[in-house]
Amino acid sequence: MLDLCLVNCKLDTDSETVCLGIENGKILSIKKLPSKADTTLDLQGKIVLPGLIDAHVHFRDPGLTFKEDFNTGSAAAAAGGFTTVLEMPNTIPATDTPEAFNEKLKIARRKSLVDFGLHAGVGDLSHIEEVAKLRPASFKIFMDLIDHDNLMKAFSEINRVGGDQLISLHAEDGNNVRHFTKLMKNEGSDPELYAQARPPKAEIDAVMNGLLLARKFQQKIHFCHVSTKKSMELIFQSQKAHLKVTSEITPHHLFLDSSYLSKFGTLAKTNPPLRDKDNQLDVNYLSMIDIIGTDHAPHTMEEKEENIWDAPPGVPGIEIILPLLLTLLNEGKISFKTIRRLLCENPAKIFNIPYKGFIKEGMDADLTVVDLKREAVIDPDDFKSKSRYTPFEGFQVKGIPTMTLVRGRKVMEDGEIIENKGKYVYMPE
Ligand code: DOR
Ligand code: ZN
Ligand code: ZN
Repeated sequence: MLDLCLVNCKLDTDSETVCLGIENGKILSIKKLPSKADTTLDLQGKIVLPGLIDAHVHFRDPGLTFKEDFNTGSAAAAAGGFTTVLEMPNTIPATDTPEAFNEKLKIARRKSLVDFGLHAGVGDLSHIEEVAKLRPASFKIFMDLIDHDNLMKAFSEINRVGGDQLISLHAEDGNNVRHFTKLMKNEGSDPELYAQARPPKAEIDAVMNGLLLARKFQQKIHFCHVSTKKSMELIFQSQKAHLKVTSEITPHHLFLDSSYLSKFGTLAKTNPPLRDKDNQLDVNYLSMIDIIGTDHAPHTMEEKEENIWDAPPGVPGIEIILPLLLTLLNEGKISFKTIRRLLCENPAKIFNIPYKGFIKEGMDADLTVVDLKREAVIDPDDFKSKSRYTPFEGFQVKGIPTMTLVRGRKVMEDGEIIENKGKYVYMPE
């Protein structure tokens, strides 16, 4: 007898309905007819996606929990249809020592409603070997905060430790950023100046540098939040030349251009900044891009009330990306195949997450149910995140996640969050 049988599930727009049999948190069977189960749930022909994986979130725990914590961040994840998150290391302390990594693991095990992995930071290089043993999703390097010498040393050490360890890059060149920020600060404090304070050149230079290092060390790298056409094309060319490199885009870089800095001021401030129409990536580039990571980067309203130079960069995105994509799907611009590739399959493959990303027998029963017909207007007051702002406020969407299951357990139904204990995805079974 199964624990749970989901009946009347559609795995894609035009496919026949199926029944998903779930036992011990795994998908045991995918059949035409229902099987006997303790609980049977009729999904009435709704679409079921593999649980979404967000490879780029900042949950601010420990040290910055006034902005977000693992509980509120993971509730936001579940509300947005995500069943797994990979969390970034720029907390206090930074996740760049074995002690800090273990401390954060403990916090996440206690507070996360969804499954999780952790990216490691790169601080003192002597810690890398020990941190690598704890199986970080990647080592994350902020190229705007490191000089070339130390960047080389970091690549060399991570590469030496081996184990096919991935490096994630925030690709903005520090020298460019400092130079143009100084220039733009002299122009005043119009929010649109921020886009030019960290111009496309800053990203493109860093991407070229990252690609050179990947080649030199034969190192696997992942570019976070790629924001310009030119960098995306460079990365795509390198993939064709067989470099081990992957790319990510955020919801804000995909849908918004720099005019949103005038409309939303500091609420649209993010690094890298939003780009003008000539440089911006859009839905036509999705076929070149490997994953969507939300870069969910919450801050408080008080912090965002500072001027454009002093307010912290970052926008929360984990609760809005799926409705935005389902809206594109309803408009006939993308398919479920694309959504699954960018938010389920590729994140699982690139970050080596076992048993996730696919609806197949033997996989974790991480599932996201969507109602394609439900319409809504994006309103940050509805967010489960502690940060209740978004430059997407007022966007009309059609298509919303209505249920999220993590290993067969409901963690969200119709916007309500249900308690659950998330699991570290990189542990041996
Ligand atoms: O906009 C950003 N916010 N970019 C980053 O690289 C960091 C992030 C944050 O942690 O707030
Ligand atoms: Zn970044
Ligand atoms: Zn980030």
